[in-house]
Amino acid sequence: MSRAAGLLLLALVSVGCRQDMHDQPKYSPLEKSGFFADRRASRPIPAGSVARGLLKDDTRFHTGMVNNRPITEMPVPVTAELLKRGQERFNIYCVPCHDATGSGEGMIVRRGMKRPTSYHTERLRTAPVGYFYDVITNGYGAMYDYSAQIEPADRWAIVAYIRVLQRAQSGTINDVPPDQVSSIKPAGGSL
Ligand code: HEC
Repeated sequence: MSRAAGLLLLALVSVGCRQDMHDQPKYSPLEKSGFFADRRASRPIPAGSVARGLLKDDTRFHTGMVNNRPITEMPVPVTAELLKRGQERFNIYCVPCHDATGSGEGMIVRRGMKRPTSYHTERLRTAPVGYFYDVITNGYGAMYDYSAQIEPADRWAIVAYIRVLQRAQSGTINDVPPDQVSSIKPAGGSL
């Protein structure tokens, strides 16, 4: 009898102690605290803290600038893979306004957006790579920035691809490898 009473008591006591995870002692964000002197449950972030994955210690890579001047050399190796990636990203994010060749006749422009300068003007053909990176990162005039949509590595891929577009429009016979020159047929005249 006393054994049964003991079990019953144990059952009652353990039910009374039951604590669900959703009901555990905890602070909600920005809740008042009686524990810390400043009464804030959300503790201030120590100065100099950097969230994981957000350390931007490579200025060239992350800003395209050195001493406030756009860099002239790509900060990453230019590979066929990078160019492919750049082409894909360019076609997603830039073609609507700059069109697939970069001349600035994209569909949104044809529907009324301000017409961007063609990438094939002398000024933009000779503009340093860091300049293009900066335009993508910070925007330019009527063009808003793409820093939220395009991560830094992809911005460089796009910059490399813009160089491809520029070369594609300004190539000469000297750009053709010598062993392939003979396979080129002049279109309606000499090259
Ligand atoms: C919604 C339309 C739009 C999209 C999308 C867009 N741009 Fe632009 N872009 C513009 C306009 C408009 C200008 C000219 C702005 C001005 O002169 O005020 C411009 C200007 C530029 C310039 C030239 C700056 C100069 O010195 O003349 C570059 C380079 C450029 N954009 C790169 C890009 C790249 C790279 C992308 C894709 C990541 C992109 N843009 C996407 C509209 C766009």
